[in-house]
Amino acid sequence: MFRDQIEQIDRLLTLPQIITQINEVIESEKAGASDLQRVIKADPVLSTKILQLVNSAYYGLPGRVGSLEKAVVLLGMTAVKNLAIAASVEQMFDRLHLPGPLTGRDMWRHCLAVATAARELAQRASMVYLEEVFMAGLIHDLGLLAAAQSVPQDVAKLVETAMSSKASWAAAELEILGMSHATAGAHLARKWHFPGYLVDMIADHHAWPDKPVSSDLAGVVYLADTLACRLGDGLALTAQHQSIDPEMLGRLNLAEADITDVWNNLPAYVEELSGILRV
Ligand SMILES: [Fe+2]
Ligand SMILES: [Fe+2]
Repeated sequence: MFRDQIEQIDRLLTLPQIITQINEVIESEKAGASDLQRVIKADPVLSTKILQLVNSAYYGLPGRVGSLEKAVVLLGMTAVKNLAIAASVEQMFDRLHLPGPLTGRDMWRHCLAVATAARELAQRASMVYLEEVFMAGLIHDLGLLAAAQSVPQDVAKLVETAMSSKASWAAAELEILGMSHATAGAHLARKWHFPGYLVDMIADHHAWPDKPVSSDLAGVVYLADTLACRLGDGLALTAQHQSIDPEMLGRLNLAEADITDVWNNLPAYVEELSGILRV
């Protein structure tokens, strides 16, 4: 059972080398924007993707950004680092081989939709760290990615059960995997020394309304997950029972009109970003 393997599976999820290099540059106190550019420029595919993302309608920056230098100035080092990670995370999903109807690409489309909607919601809620929110959306279902890598047959069975019966995803997950993907993801994130706000967001992202959400970040990811599952692009089962709760909107200072706007923009933005990030 997945629950019994969780301590061993972190070896399976290796981050692409470019991310390790970028993290080293960001964490080194002496390093500046030029060091980051040097690392990214050594990977021409990644450089191109970052420029495409910065110039996408989704980012909506005025004027064309023609150089990596300008991209770093306009977006900041953290944003460029996160975009590099986003471009690499896609590869991790693409390597999955699931036996059932759900593919790694379905899971990736879902995570991208959540990231896209979460960043837009955060912008409307006047939250500051928009790129961190995008990143949070990409990794919110980390536990499911880990399960799909370590027990693909069980995940296929889980998907079939959730699709064919009235059992909720959460109940089927506990029965087949022995733990929820939220608990598994938070456990891994803690083990890998992710910042506490990401660990809490992963742990909490399906908890509402049974438990209060731990942060605004967990709140926007909850809402974005609900919208992404309604969109039905890729994996759409895990949040299909969730609703857009007025209490949650109030907490985040969001109006119904914000949800409508984000919902209307979502399909085109997901299409645009998935086209750019595809390996
Ligand atoms: Fe989830
Ligand atoms: Fe999700």
